[in-house]
Amino acid sequence: MKNIAVFASGRGSNFSSIVQAARIGAIKARISLMISDNPDAPVLKKARSASIKTALVERKDFPNKEKFEAAIIQLLQKEKIDLIVLAGFMRVLSPGFVRKYKNRILNIHPSLLPSFKGAHGIKDAYSYGVKITGVTVHFVDEKIDHGPIILQAAVEIDKNDTLESLEEKIHKLEHKLYPSAIQLYCASKLRVEGNKVMIRA
Ligand code: GRF
Repeated sequence: MKNIAVFASGRGSNFSSIVQAARIGAIKARISLMISDNPDAPVLKKARSASIKTALVERKDFPNKEKFEAAIIQLLQKEKIDLIVLAGFMRVLSPGFVRKYKNRILNIHPSLLPSFKGAHGIKDAYSYGVKITGVTVHFVDEKIDHGPIILQAAVEIDKNDTLESLEEKIHKLEHKLYPSAIQLYCASKLRVEGNKVMIRA
């Protein structure tokens, strides 16, 4: 069974959906570790109450990004982590880190990439006035919100939607899509060919 580490900085609703999916066997892997960089993140409490091992690694405790990431790598190696799942992790991993874990880091982004990259994907799509937005799960490469796309799903923005109702729709979809993508990885059903991800039936 593969060992998964989730990296999260905030609320942790995706983290909870992943833990739940593992619990019911929809993800056949161990959620071995949750790493956060934010001491105030609600996800820390969620992990503790789900009895998942947690580690708080704060950037301010290290002289540079390299040492910060070296501390993270040490934790990953100790827990024999196979897959890193970014779930609202608000730090950009260095090219060196990404290369070390090439095709072993997943991210979820709340828009249909390559549209609306960045920290406000839902709001930016809403403000732009697009009629369709959605959710993307992708492998992480050296660019931000970029890398081979595993799964995408669309959400319609209708005339009655507010930003809040759209956020709700997006998060609901995220909580289904991310566990599905993670399980595809864990079942070795994904093959990366250049910028494309082939999914075996
Ligand atoms: C999600 O919308 C995810 O797409 C983005 O960050 C948010 C994290 O939410 N990368 P949560 O902490 O999982 O509730």
